[in-house]
Amino acid sequence: TAERSRVDVLLEQMGADLDRGLVPAEVFNDPSVYERELRQVFGRCWVYIGHESELPDPGDYHVRMIGEDPFVFVRDEAGVIRVLLNSCRHRGSVICRVDSGNTSHFRCPYHAWTYKNDGSLIGVPARQNGYRALDMEEWGLIPAAQVDSFHGLVFATLDPHAPSLHDYLGKFRWYLEMQVALTKGGMEVLGEPHRWLIDADWKSGAENFTGDSSHTQMTHRSLLEVGIADQAGAGKTGKAHGLHVNECDGHAISMRVLAEGEERWFDYPKELRVQFEQGALNEAQLDLVRRGVVHDGTVFPNMSFIHFSAREDIELPARPFLSIRTWQPRGPGHMEVWSWVLAPREASPEFKESVYRAAMASFSPSGAFEQDDAIVWNGVARTGGSLAAELQGIRFNYQMGMPGMGDAEPLADWPGPGTAWPSNSGESGLRTFHRRWFEQMTAPAPGAASPVEDKE
Ligand code: FES
Ligand code: FE
Repeated sequence: TAERSRVDVLLEQMGADLDRGLVPAEVFNDPSVYERELRQVFGRCWVYIGHESELPDPGDYHVRMIGEDPFVFVRDEAGVIRVLLNSCRHRGSVICRVDSGNTSHFRCPYHAWTYKNDGSLIGVPARQNGYRALDMEEWGLIPAAQVDSFHGLVFATLDPHAPSLHDYLGKFRWYLEMQVALTKGGMEVLGEPHRWLIDADWKSGAENFTGDSSHTQMTHRSLLEVGIADQAGAGKTGKAHGLHVNECDGHAISMRVLAEGEERWFDYPKELRVQFEQGALNEAQLDLVRRGVVHDGTVFPNMSFIHFSAREDIELPARPFLSIRTWQPRGPGHMEVWSWVLAPREASPEFKESVYRAAMASFSPSGAFEQDDAIVWNGVARTGGSLAAELQGIRFNYQMGMPGMGDAEPLADWPGPGTAWPSNSGESGLRTFHRRWFEQMTAPAPGAASPVEDKE
């Protein structure tokens, strides 16, 4: 039998580690873990590609990633959104060499095979001389195995056997709707995504956004002190409290909301609040938006969001925004962050402009929050990649609020799906994330014979 790799040994112990609220440090920076997760996690999960509003016109396209593989996210002439591997069918050269644009065709720079923006092959040089019998229909660009959308959010998967997006998002759809289905028109992406590199593992961003509420007071303390962010909600309409929701089919969210009967609406203005009340949300969802100060969460594996309000300048009023980000793997201990700002489509152009500026000042590469986080996550990756982590079997602690460790009890009368914890003092969302990761890392390959079947 093949020699067991280090990652096999690590994963063999990890189930027991997770039961104790522990995660091996090496998962945050190890080449064999990284290799395995590209295949098992990014090769098989639904991955966020982009928002439909980024492709307003036929021919609009952006290059996006699934794991480390580039895809062209494009709206074809018929208006259909496609996710096509950015690779020529002739001999694999990259066909689309710029990040974004509008085109009716993609022409390969190598031997000029030419594809329509729906992926079909329509031009091959010297066809009459050398390729008379080439079946053009067989040689179109390769689409992702499945592509689907949820309220404008487009996801794709490389796995033809993956469950539907509807089932994959599962119970978490209820919480996503509160972010992206506030108004009848839904959300719209403002401007271009920002992208930047961090020397940290993609999982540090993903786990943090499930509800690492306790880092805010330390990592972002200076922002709270100067009043750039008013997370407590104090001084407005009462004091906010924390809620964590996990057990949502592998996804998790944390919220800060005001007491029942109070209103904050993430600081959205009156004219939009009225539209939220006429939108698609049910009363329980609307109530969490009405009381909403912050909602942040992660769709496994690497798409996170934060719905929040911040100030561009201490003199200016706080502006609400939805930031969507993906934590792209870029080698062990490295990631590229992609970050989009969204606002309700119905908002005025002036309001969208002020929203964008507030988001840039907080959650962007130049934003105050983002720089704080990059530094602490870098420390995690350094430890994960250390010799000590391997030789001394270092485990990280995710025990906060575990049964027997904290005193929180789940809410008995929670109106939404999943398990809700009425406290910020817990890491239930982070444990959900790592449990989901572990299950994905150890899932049998699709179609692979089980050991039992092998004996036949
Ligand atoms: Fe694209 Fe040859 S590799 S045309
Ligand atoms: Fe943070």
